[in-house]
Amino acid sequence: MNQGKNINRNLLTDATLGTPFAEAYRALRANITFRRIDRFTIDRPARTILVASAASGEGRTTTAINLGIIMAQSSPSVLIVDTDFRKPSMHKHLRTGANGHGPGIGLSDVLVGAADVDQVVLNTPFPRLWLITAGAAPPNPSELLASERMHLILSELQERADFVLLDSPPCLSYADAFLLARIADAVLYVVRAGHQEKSSQHRVQKQLQQAKAWILGVVFTDVEVDNAPRVDLSANGHAIGPQHRFAVGTPSEAERQTLARP
Ligand SMILES: Nc1ncnc2c1ncn2[C@@H]1O[C@H](COP(=O)(O)OP(=O)(O)OP(=O)(O)O)[C@@H](O)[C@H]1O
Ligand SMILES: [Mg+2]
Repeated sequence: MNQGKNINRNLLTDATLGTPFAEAYRALRANITFRRIDRFTIDRPARTILVASAASGEGRTTTAINLGIIMAQSSPSVLIVDTDFRKPSMHKHLRTGANGHGPGIGLSDVLVGAADVDQVVLNTPFPRLWLITAGAAPPNPSELLASERMHLILSELQERADFVLLDSPPCLSYADAFLLARIADAVLYVVRAGHQEKSSQHRVQKQLQQAKAWILGVVFTDVEVDNAPRVDLSANGHAIGPQHRFAVGTPSEAERQTLARP
């Protein structure tokens, strides 16, 4: 249902919901929505999920959106929150009405007390999928994300939506994702296949452990689904978290043609 020109050819649209590419996200949804976490003395499925990765461009934003679209097919309400204050992009990809040309008001505005949650929850082109954009660029992203208010807002959002998906900046560049990992129920760790560099992945893994993150699984982007088992982080000597692996993409050429269609 994306309108106009799709700026990210790997985002799902109504036309591609039946493709194997979409099916990979369904498998991911099935695995993560039924896995119980045991965190904050809560034993239940993860409802607030941070999508994180070591480096930029690994596919965090795409994973959050496509997973959100698929989750919203079977859940009453799914909320995506753009917690990437460094390079906010959800407003562009989900083209939310009046906010299509910029983030508009969003999370940062709620964090500084300039807006209420009700004012920033936006419709998306997908039923039951909601978005809170990053909002006005804040001068102090880490401070805001580490604040008690952020914790409170997240608790409130969790009351309103069945699942809350958080986008984030790359772990190797900023502390933001580690701060978010402390308050999210769980982390979905994205690795662009073939781009993982041993020492840096190791470092990020350690920091996530220090943040007491509950890693739900590792999502490999840009791999042939059939080849996924061959992509094995632990085989390279650097395992990340509980070894639940999922592969999403690359779309086939036929799927690409559908994906590229306006
Ligand atoms: N499963 C996938 N298979 C192939 N390509 C993908 C996949 N997921 C995302 N991509 C592509 O990778 C590129 C980067 O994706 P995306 O913007 O989601 O990454 P990011 O980690 O959020 O990047 P940034 O650090 O810029 O925020 C985009 O061109 C996107 O279409
Ligand atoms: Mg991104």
